Amino acid sequence: MGDWFEVRDYDAAGRIGELTVPRADVTVETPALLPVVNPHVRTVEPARMESEFGAEILITNGYILYGSEDARESALSDGLHDLYDFSGAIMTDSGSFQLSEYGEIDVDTREILDFQRDIGSDIGTPVDIPTPPDVSREQAADELATTQERLELAAEVETGEMLVNAPVQGSTYPDLRERAARDAYGTDLDVFPVGAMVPLLNDYRFADVVDMVAAAKRGLGADAPVHLFGAGHPMMFALAVAMGCDLFDSAAYALYARDDRYLTVRGTEHLEDLEYFPCECPICASHTPDELESCGDADRERLLAEHNLHVTFGEIRRIKQAIRQGNLLELVEARARGHPTMLDGYRALGDHAEQLEATDPATKDAFFYLSGESAARPEVLRHHQRLERLDADGEILLTEGDTNEAYDESWRVVPPFGPFPRDLSEVYPLNAEVPERLDERAYARAADGVARLAEANPDVDFTLGHTGWPARALDRVPADVDTYELGVDDAFGDPEDDADETA
Ligand code: GUN
Repeated sequence: MGDWFEVRDYDAAGRIGELTVPRADVTVETPALLPVVNPHVRTVEPARMESEFGAEILITNGYILYGSEDARESALSDGLHDLYDFSGAIMTDSGSFQLSEYGEIDVDTREILDFQRDIGSDIGTPVDIPTPPDVSREQAADELATTQERLELAAEVETGEMLVNAPVQGSTYPDLRERAARDAYGTDLDVFPVGAMVPLLNDYRFADVVDMVAAAKRGLGADAPVHLFGAGHPMMFALAVAMGCDLFDSAAYALYARDDRYLTVRGTEHLEDLEYFPCECPICASHTPDELESCGDADRERLLAEHNLHVTFGEIRRIKQAIRQGNLLELVEARARGHPTMLDGYRALGDHAEQLEATDPATKDAFFYLSGESAARPEVLRHHQRLERLDADGEILLTEGDTNEAYDESWRVVPPFGPFPRDLSEVYPLNAEVPERLDERAYARAADGVARLAEANPDVDFTLGHTGWPARALDRVPADVDTYELGVDDAFGDPEDDADETA
């Protein structure tokens, strides 16, 4: 792997990065969306994707071009960039998706990589095997071995300046995905798509998507650009970015438009069900749903595809802004409310808090507690880990600097974090904005924090002053910690107010 990818900023495991694509002589800012251009059906012209939608990179199918004599000849003679009138980066796929759909294709890795290089592709793809979800472990492992052989072959092919994808397979076995990723990363290849996600995405199995991406990420280095192959619906981009995906391709904008379906960041609508367009894009601002309904088929398809692309690019910009501001997880949490399966995906993300914590910035503007799921955020986990870090004097290394703290009774115990010294009340993330009516998961997490503090400090007597905690949360507090109930002001009052009162 060359030095093609640099991370500029993190939030959770999401990042803003720069992917240098040497053959196109461009740098693509990630997270990036690659609109899928079907060589035979150009619903929106690639040149417009660049000038009107801001596309820096697109993806097209090398195998479809190879399979049609006319397309093959013009791609070979003109080159992809002239054929599509697109000066950004162009990624090509190999036919593997067709392999997964139709059972066979008639090219091999060397042949299709040579072709991709010869038509001027900037990022090519070998013929990986997209093993579907839920197959036997034996099948998943056998097919993975074949994929890995092809990646190793691809690393031997003379591809010049073209970067090469190393797809990560392994069906729904996290350990196989992790191993696949480690082996792919160990080749000389450049970009790491997580493959065979389409069946999971089509079935709205977002928790499985998160688990498979998390597994792949464990096997890859931090400098590996990660593509989520076939992930085109904008409602799940924030979730996938938070788990560490950098590139997405979208055929959805065109496929959905063909069926009169309208994308939103909360899900999909049928045009016939809309009386109003809930969107500010140029198409929605200048048409009503009725007007679109009464257009001719071709115009309606194109206009819907344009709206779908606007929403898709808009969500990518929103995600990048959220990473810069450190509120990506708040955006994921909002998206999780769009569909119950998205909530499953967000809860699965919470299961990987330790992975997210590794790259989550130590300080951000604000932590907004928005639901019980916020209690599983990496910031809470980090606080709990710190409650266990003691120095030689038995003081707790709560902050990165040298402000070690010994426990005393003035400590506050605030859901979802648990115990912390009063004078850290204004320090991120303990200065979180928390609603007055908390749910039980916040108390349970705080109780876990008390338990961790007590376990790490067996010689210290703890007392837990709390404000009407639910019994089930108190049950999680070790028996040797004294618990008593406080008035609300005692526990949550602004420390400065306390100072005024005592002054
Ligand atoms: N497009 C969607 N999924 C896949 C995949 O697993 N492999 C390849 N090569 N292309 C894809």
